[in-house]
Amino acid sequence: PLVVGKEVLDKARREGYAVPSFNTNNLEITQAILEVAEELKAPVFIQVSDGARKYAGMENLANLVKDMASRVRVPVVLHLDHGADFAMVMQALRAGFTSVMIDASHHPLEENVRETRKVVEAAHAVGVSVEAELGRLQGIEDNVQVSEAEAFLTDPEEAERFVAETGIDYLAIAIGTSHGAYKGKGRPYIDHRRLQEIARRVSLPLVLHGASGVPAWLKEKLLATGAEVKEATGIHDEDIQKAIPNGIAKINIDTDLRLAMTLGIREVVVGNPREFDPRKIIGKGRDYLKQVIREKFQLMRTVGRA
Ligand code: G3H
Ligand code: 13P
Ligand code: NA
Ligand code: ZN
Repeated sequence: PLVVGKEVLDKARREGYAVPSFNTNNLEITQAILEVAEELKAPVFIQVSDGARKYAGMENLANLVKDMASRVRVPVVLHLDHGADFAMVMQALRAGFTSVMIDASHHPLEENVRETRKVVEAAHAVGVSVEAELGRLQGIEDNVQVSEAEAFLTDPEEAERFVAETGIDYLAIAIGTSHGAYKGKGRPYIDHRRLQEIARRVSLPLVLHGASGVPAWLKEKLLATGAEVKEATGIHDEDIQKAIPNGIAKINIDTDLRLAMTLGIREVVVGNPREFDPRKIIGKGRDYLKQVIREKFQLMRTVGRA
């Protein structure tokens, strides 16, 4: 069934596992997420981004997820990813989202606090949980000066104040990850000491954005279809595993799903030029999606937590 975000994530942080938050854009992605969650008895977040809203329509996606979630046994949270402002959050509340993110992290701190408080008031009034972000996502790499990257990372003391002043339910932090398939040359990594310091000061569930791993098997298979993804790099599995005992309870994954869907489509389209049944083409993408999603639940130790 559809449930509220806070109950899922409070339990995750308390018990030391994380819940993946997968971006959806269509029927097939939503099916893949829910079929695997049900199979592995795992709670899950399904999130809708700005791009998803423009591509598929917020109400279409919300109705799809709500309907499909009502027919599975595992807890499903319908989450607004990177809500741009108060109006966007209101639209999500009307559409029946059970969790919303307000991302005012690019504004000066005072404004981030003000905007976030306003959202908390409105969302809590209807029982919906709120995620907000402090710091700016910016990858850190072996060959970049740490001081350069540090300016964007979340300050632990500021995080403690931000949580107290806003009343949010979970906090997205910047600790070195970045969005997309190119997380940096060298070896992208997570600032684990910073995370520990934040976790010591903030008892709420912490959220990790930009957490895709660009799995080697996916990349190899994509390259074999002629896809140009040679430079793609992601966050290493060990870094994800190490972050979870330090308070990371929600982990956002979009890029790895895009790679998986595209792999399936390319294998059929490139390898079998006579095929023109979209169900065969997209269906293969959905199969690879399920494989990646399965691996994420295992990595985050979400299996059996429903
Ligand atoms: O946070 C970014 C997500 O990967 C979604 O991106 O707005 O292009 O769908 P999008
Ligand atoms: P990735 O691009 O690493 O999958 O991150 C997705 C994300 O953070 C969506 O909010
Ligand atoms: Na989000
Ligand atoms: Zn994000």
